[in-house]
Amino acid sequence: SRTPVTVTVTGAAGQIGYALLFRIASGQLLGPDVPVKLNLLEITPALKAAEGTAMELDDCAFPLLSGIDISDDPNVAFAGTNVALLVGARPRTKGMERGDLLEANGGIFKPQGRAINDHAVDDVRVLVVGNPANTNALIAQAAAPDVPAERFTAMTRLDHNRALTQLSKKTGAPVSEIRRLTIWGNHSATQYPDIFHAEVAGKNAAETVNDETWLAEEFIPTVAKRGAAIIEARGASSAASAANAAVDHVHTWVNGTAEGDWTSMAIPSDGSYGVPEGLISSFPVTCRDGRYEIVQGLEINEFSRTRIDASVNELAEEREAVRGLGLL
Ligand code: NAI
Repeated sequence: SRTPVTVTVTGAAGQIGYALLFRIASGQLLGPDVPVKLNLLEITPALKAAEGTAMELDDCAFPLLSGIDISDDPNVAFAGTNVALLVGARPRTKGMERGDLLEANGGIFKPQGRAINDHAVDDVRVLVVGNPANTNALIAQAAAPDVPAERFTAMTRLDHNRALTQLSKKTGAPVSEIRRLTIWGNHSATQYPDIFHAEVAGKNAAETVNDETWLAEEFIPTVAKRGAAIIEARGASSAASAANAAVDHVHTWVNGTAEGDWTSMAIPSDGSYGVPEGLISSFPVTCRDGRYEIVQGLEINEFSRTRIDASVNELAEEREAVRGLGLL
């Protein structure tokens, strides 16, 4: 039988953790024939809750789950990690300025990046879910100079999936017939969901929709503000859909995109599409043999350019802010 893949989940006792761990242990993250070992990282006061979740994982008797370890020490939790899902983060609380938020998260993601650097295996893949995800990923990456930069990614797959469904509802085509949609930029309200290269049942999506007012005034804001709408409706932030997107992100990264399609991942920019090098920004990517590549050669119209630039500028400002805090 195969050696288990070690998956570390931070914030394991949180709401996303609860929705995520059972999916991983059932084989949905990596595939139905890949055994997994789970390492749960939590802060000390939440260790007991993490133990409760581990008991429930035991009670599922998942054939692919080879073991569970729980720790409040990143140096232990990232030992031998193949896949790191960084979910735990410091949420913005009332009266907190953006600088305070970035600093508090620096206190989490810097030591975790360092621990990944020192203890994870060579082929480690990192997905940052905890917000501000793109900039937290940048902080962790900067603290891990021995790990190839491209292994640090942040999640925009939830935005991608949200956009798929909104476009499906508008056109009446099932999501399975929609391809090549792109989320550009930051996982924040400035993100830009782009349908100009997307296809609905083989035809160009923007031409099929043919409604720029809907695009600018409904589609884009609905996708970008969906997180807030979920909080408003549910009284709690997206958890199961976020966990689902994390599973999708890693599954696609490892197992590949479908022929003729692509996905959205926030990854370190190589300068493509005018995005300053090193910013962890969302791009259209194809995945194959465990590697991702930015889709090249797309024509960016004026409508898209303005919106991509706005989101990328926000990322550049966040980078400046964390540089100023000595986190890079
Ligand atoms: P939650 O508050 O329910 O859980 C977070 C957990 O992280 C808590 O159990 C907490 O104890 C733990 N934690 C805090 N600091 C930690 C540390 N240093 N090490 C290990 N664990 C630590 O939050 P929830 O709902 O699970 O969300 C987690 C994060 O995911 C939030 O930052 C949220 O904004 C973000 N998120 C991102 C999305 C995306 O699309 N990128 C979508 C939805 C949520």
